[in-house]
Amino acid sequence: MGFDVGQFMDADTIQAIKDIVGEENCSTKVADLYTYGFDASIHHRSPELVVQPRNTEQVSRIVRLANERLVPILARGGGTGLCGSAVPLAGGIVLDMTRMNRIKEIRVEDLYCVVEPGVVYDRLMEALAPFKFSIPTAPGSGEACTLGGMVATNASGMRAIKYGAIRDYVLGLEVVLASGDVIKVGTRTLKNSSGYQLERLFVGSEGTLGIITEATLRITPKAKKAAMIIAAFDTLEKAGKCVSRIIARPLIPSAIELMDSTCIKAVNKTVKAGFPDAEALCMIEVDGDPATVEEDAKTVLAICSEIGAIGVECSSDLEQMAKWTYGRKSIMSSLSRYGEGFVSVSLADDMAVPISKIPEAVVAFHRTAEKYGVIVGTYGHAGDGNLHTKMLLDPTSEDYWRRGEKAVGEIFDTVISLGGTVTGEHGVGISKAPYFKKERPTAWGTMNVIKKALDPNNILNPGKMAQWEGSILRMLRYPCDKYSD
Ligand code: LAC
Ligand code: ZN
Repeated sequence: MGFDVGQFMDADTIQAIKDIVGEENCSTKVADLYTYGFDASIHHRSPELVVQPRNTEQVSRIVRLANERLVPILARGGGTGLCGSAVPLAGGIVLDMTRMNRIKEIRVEDLYCVVEPGVVYDRLMEALAPFKFSIPTAPGSGEACTLGGMVATNASGMRAIKYGAIRDYVLGLEVVLASGDVIKVGTRTLKNSSGYQLERLFVGSEGTLGIITEATLRITPKAKKAAMIIAAFDTLEKAGKCVSRIIARPLIPSAIELMDSTCIKAVNKTVKAGFPDAEALCMIEVDGDPATVEEDAKTVLAICSEIGAIGVECSSDLEQMAKWTYGRKSIMSSLSRYGEGFVSVSLADDMAVPISKIPEAVVAFHRTAEKYGVIVGTYGHAGDGNLHTKMLLDPTSEDYWRRGEKAVGEIFDTVISLGGTVTGEHGVGISKAPYFKKERPTAWGTMNVIKKALDPNNILNPGKMAQWEGSILRMLRYPCDKYSD
């Protein structure tokens, strides 16, 4: 592995950091270190020090110190990523950015807002709502994920099909480099041809090139009205076909979410979302002005019946739509209660394929799952080709993990052969690293060149992306002796 694991902190370095941020904003308590070793991925490793900085200057001074003393350092937001980007693999320092949570400006007349990285997505949407503005990407984890984490992973969500990913909203960033220097990249204008678009370089860099301390984000007026259609199908393939048929009409809904029978059963059992029991569901949202919404909803209903939907419901009632959305957002947690002794793990997850390949992809994933004797629950943002495939397995069983990993390899081979990517919105981190190299055989070498230029001492989130080597079954958060942390 291209990084060292070990003890990096000494009493003198810890004291120097306490002097920068104050003792009350640092912790070396075992319980805190253990807690900050997790994100929402399968991996875990405790850091040696947790720090909650309050401003850019503190971040700059800490990073400068870490660079001088060769201590690994990683910034984290809500910890909702599924691939291990926020797990401090090498130990060292975790910067918890959630105390830098000020919304500094909202300028609707200029179509931007300025936020600190620790602002939670839903809090920003609440602040924009009175102005009738939003950033409509709608991440499934919006109540916990932070804007800094979203930018660092190029996160998106349910409405990316119509409104794009967070990269489409990043106008400018303030970034602390590995040297401790603070740079401003991008602008506060909607257009900018002023040299290299460096703000894009930091989008999706997962904390390996710099630490984001401020973001200027484009905002957009909220749609006046929306309607939702729930369409049930007797095969997963038909649900997949429904997605591409709607888009080719042409009609771009604000969301098309897909769920297979495993996900439907799990969510109906736990949160009573009232989804019809079927082999597959599509949850389609259309938005815009009231007349367009009505017309688009009718078109979607007609397409669902052309495809042979076995049940369809349509509503523009806010409470009903919120209930369905809540059901959809609860799939991930519900899956772990699907069966006694099984948990839902993010092994092969978050891939994206060209939209028309969805039917082929979902059928192939299920065939692979059957071949290796594992249960795969598939759901996600099918409208933009991005799927979540959760594996349900007994996390104490070495044999399950081994079969799971074989299935993952085959699933990502399918994704790559269909012209897709191994991660649509959560990033590479650890869990995607080997498959990311397969997907981008010519690009990751150049990524490494950029990494070496910006972080020559490899202190920023070391071990991630192109640096991870070998199996992903290491440093697991689960009690399986062979693979555990
Ligand atoms: C979702 C998150 C996990 O779509 O990406 O629910
Ligand atoms: Zn998602």
